Amino acid sequence: MERNTTTIPQADIDRQLTFCREIAQMNAARPEQPLAFVDTYGCQQNEADSERIRGYLSEMGYGFTDDEEQAQIIVLNTCAIREHAEQRVLGNLGALVHVKRRHPDQIICMCGCMAQEQHVAEKIKQSFRHVDLVFGPHMLWKFPEFIHTLLTSRGRIFQIPDEAGSIAEGIPVVRQDKVKAWVSIMYGCNNFCSYCIVPYVRGRERSRQPEDILNEVRALASEGYKDITLLGQNVNSYGKDLDSPMDFADLLERVNAIPGDFLIRFMTSHPKDATQKLFETMARCEKVAPVLHLPFQAGNNRVLKVMNRKHTIEGYLDKIRALRALIPDIVLTSDVIVGFPGETTPEFEDTLKVLEEVQFDALFTFIYSPRVGTPAAKMDDPMPREEKLANFNRLVALQDAISEKKHAAYIGKTMRCLVDGESGDSRYPLSARTPGNRLVRLTGEPAAIGQFVQVKITDANKWSLFGEMV
Ligand code: 5AD
Ligand code: SF4
Repeated sequence: MERNTTTIPQADIDRQLTFCREIAQMNAARPEQPLAFVDTYGCQQNEADSERIRGYLSEMGYGFTDDEEQAQIIVLNTCAIREHAEQRVLGNLGALVHVKRRHPDQIICMCGCMAQEQHVAEKIKQSFRHVDLVFGPHMLWKFPEFIHTLLTSRGRIFQIPDEAGSIAEGIPVVRQDKVKAWVSIMYGCNNFCSYCIVPYVRGRERSRQPEDILNEVRALASEGYKDITLLGQNVNSYGKDLDSPMDFADLLERVNAIPGDFLIRFMTSHPKDATQKLFETMARCEKVAPVLHLPFQAGNNRVLKVMNRKHTIEGYLDKIRALRALIPDIVLTSDVIVGFPGETTPEFEDTLKVLEEVQFDALFTFIYSPRVGTPAAKMDDPMPREEKLANFNRLVALQDAISEKKHAAYIGKTMRCLVDGESGDSRYPLSARTPGNRLVRLTGEPAAIGQFVQVKITDANKWSLFGEMV
């Protein structure tokens, strides 16, 4: 099969690194090291992209700050998934007008999914004139060139070509964490769920070469990372565009074979390509964490069909049963949308039935938010907002009760947990994760951060577990 994914030639990335060196020379001549602030919104894919932006900035000689007054360069890496996320970004971006008045040399950049939306870019162009650089996810690899242009000539840059997307290897990264790491394995989405903006802003599905992924995981394992999450909008489609016949289960098997004491997680999965082979691989691979995030979005088949989900609820429940038969203690989480256009309250109640039946450990619940350019945004949406809110509250109340019950069942158990940071709570100063990624607040000393320890669970509420090291 012909590989239809474009890879950015190494020479082009090298050229970007040359821009970095030129900027680093300019920065070295300044009296103090200039600082940059990278502000990330949205999902882990954006976190991973921000780590590459920081990697480039570090090569350019910038240090980092969280204080916009101190920053020479401010980058807002944005999310377009729901209106609320967009409002937050526009509010924060708007407020920067005052900051820039105090620091006229500041460079303000907007990137990520919102930047890729034509109507948003147009709005920034007209009404947010303090923003110097807007670039979409497809142009991230050219970030040094854009900064170089802004530093050496005047003007604003808007780079949001509508592309299927490419793969860029060899971009430096500065990771935010020493215990957990993200590894993108693929980009984009081909599913076009009718409510979702992602396929329009992130392009078509494209997989990184397995060797590039395996090398990255090997390096992380040898640096001592303990928790590695393989990322993609739809990881179960991994490999469909590769020359070598390789699917996500095969990749998981090969990542699992890398020596080291670390956990492997992955997200997000689509039910339509979550296969028996994947479940068997998860059960067999000792490093793969016993947890699956498998969004079902709605419990009613008519609604699923209009959502263009390409699976039925019976098919979904069959898969859950098959998975539980292989891994009985699997931790299951999901995403649900309430108030999709045309969803009636009896149809919504089918979603509640799925919660009752599956008993998810946790649920990410959203009220439908129309996105410009998606088919659902043009559909009739007669249900009043109050009714949607009432349904949403019923959903949250039911899940809270289920989560509380599930968490209570952990009390008295001892399990191997990864201490991943400080909690900010003086009674339980550490934060840790069970193998299935449930949050544990833990007594103990910060020296344990980054280690696997045996934890006895002593208490629980609907949000988290509490425990002590044994
Ligand atoms: N409105 C509400 N929720 C959405 N999601 C995606 N698009 C929308 C939208 N337009 C939710 C889905 C998806 C999660 C990441 O965000 O549940 O799985
Ligand atoms: Fe959006 Fe559906 Fe693709 Fe997920 S699978 S990113 S919900 S279009």
